[in-house]
Amino acid sequence: MTTRCYNTSKLLRRISSAIGACVIVLGMSKGQNLDSLVQTAILYSGQHLEATVKVLGGSVEYPRSTLGDGSWKTVKPNDWTSGFFPGCLWKMYELTNDSAFRVAATKWTAGLEVQKFNTKTHDVGFITFCSFGNGQRLHPNDEYKQILLQAARSLATRFNPVVGCIRSWDNRKWEYPVIIDNMMNLELLFWASKNGGPHTLYDIAVSHASKTMENHFRKDGSTYHVVSYDSITGAVIAKETHQGYANESAWSRGQAWAVYGFTMAYRETHDERFLKIAQRAADYFIGHLPPDFVPYWDFQAPNIPNEERDVSAAAVACSGLFELSTLTQDAAEEIRYRKSAMHILVSLCAPPYLSKGSRSAGILDRAVGSRPANTEVDVSLIYGDYYFLEALVRYRDLMRTIKH
Ligand code: GLY
Repeated sequence: MTTRCYNTSKLLRRISSAIGACVIVLGMSKGQNLDSLVQTAILYSGQHLEATVKVLGGSVEYPRSTLGDGSWKTVKPNDWTSGFFPGCLWKMYELTNDSAFRVAATKWTAGLEVQKFNTKTHDVGFITFCSFGNGQRLHPNDEYKQILLQAARSLATRFNPVVGCIRSWDNRKWEYPVIIDNMMNLELLFWASKNGGPHTLYDIAVSHASKTMENHFRKDGSTYHVVSYDSITGAVIAKETHQGYANESAWSRGQAWAVYGFTMAYRETHDERFLKIAQRAADYFIGHLPPDFVPYWDFQAPNIPNEERDVSAAAVACSGLFELSTLTQDAAEEIRYRKSAMHILVSLCAPPYLSKGSRSAGILDRAVGSRPANTEVDVSLIYGDYYFLEALVRYRDLMRTIKH
């Protein structure tokens, strides 16, 4: 990638033929359709990723969030976000088939290999599955397979059979914290159990999802961020928040992790309980969105509408809803979830959420890392970009299926 420039019209032609000519009109202005918005967004994203690859050069640190001047703040490979940049490059390769992105993705993925031994956080799942997991899916090879199997073994060391869950964090104020985000890391375990790892990895993932379903949800389908357990008895001792507005509010990215995570758990297990709970999480998320379908950082943030939006929550949910629409067995629900995902995508494909015209090195603007800590507020976040690109892939694949 560092040795070549894009041939813009060639790339556009490739994207056009990949997406096809499907026209989906969702209340956009005359002459606009989602296909053309998506095509423009893919081209824009590719240019941004290429620029980031150039700017970072031989850095051994990974982009995480943007600073005041729009440049990337970078972090070490053991940060929970390190897998997303290589993941973005793999997604862009998937969208364009441009080998320059595969070369860059391979290089940035390689720098994370040692993380396969990381047993200090549940984030080993995010780190390795977004990087090596995408690489293995798009370019299967034994090296990546062995790395992923080791990463799954590392993640499984954090499972406590009495609690029935993987411990999310160490060294925080809770005894045995399990955060809703942790649902995302189960995909690594499901994958490993199907690819040479022991069946216990599957059992651990199912146990974790079942306990999370039991203890993280409120009656209205919203979710707690943190549930802490007694590690000796397995009893729930606290239901609180870390990044949300209040213990009893619904942190929007947490809700998005629930939508995506339980949809994935249903895909992997065909356990109807997980489909039902994914739909409850989705119904809450969709039912509390503002008119442009991009949530505020917490659904109960006190000063709505004068609160920041979180595009990362929108992007995670958008990708999850596309998948949910393909798994639900009811035609009306299928359409409702797909339309909601498309409405979100319409917003994300244009300013102010697409960073076009801003100084940001990221693809999406207006995300929130942690409002209570006042860190990474109203910035670009690499995981927002990652799930946006995944949503574009899922949209493209869905349109191909519907059309043919
Ligand atoms: N998993 C951390 C976050 O969503 O901020």
